[in-house]
Amino acid sequence: ETESISQLIDRLAAVVPDYPEPGVSFKDLTPVFADPVGFRRIVDSIVDPFRGTFDLIAGLEARGFILASAAAYATGTGMLTIRKKGKLPREILAESYQLEYGEATLEVQRDDIPSGTRVLVLDDVLATGGTLNASTKLIERAGGVVVGIGVVMELEDLGGRGRLPGRHIHSLSAV
Ligand code: PRP
Repeated sequence: ETESISQLIDRLAAVVPDYPEPGVSFKDLTPVFADPVGFRRIVDSIVDPFRGTFDLIAGLEARGFILASAAAYATGTGMLTIRKKGKLPREILAESYQLEYGEATLEVQRDDIPSGTRVLVLDDVLATGGTLNASTKLIERAGGVVVGIGVVMELEDLGGRGRLPGRHIHSLSAV
């Protein structure tokens, strides 16, 4: 019997007890990315439900870049970087959002998303949903159409889906 994608992630992810604070059990995905079979399977699985529906794949800095670039290469599309503040040289759109402590800002170059471009958005983890919510807003403000969101892992207790109403979200595993 073949191992399911969530079983594979479960087997390969490294569990770090009491990180980043006591009582929290952190699942580190770096061994999943480092595994040759694991990496190919997560990239293929994350785009599967969206095949044929997108023109561009957006990756969120930093770990979303890894998934988005591999997925874009595999599906023959282009790739867009949604970046942290102050990295992009041309005219930008910016969205700020709340973190547990303080604020973060993400930016995109308007000209990089021609009006009507169908965009698939990829990141490693959906936690509170702040990062993905800001990113989808940026893509739409630039004139793109967000066709879906793919993540390797969803931390369900943090309620990220609730901050992304109406979005087609494909998560490969949930904790
Ligand atoms: C992590 C993760 C997601 C985001 C999810 O990135 O890779 O992008 O947090 O959290 P949220 O759903 O609560 O917004 P991080 O900010 O650690 O950046 P990095 O990938 O550059 O390390």
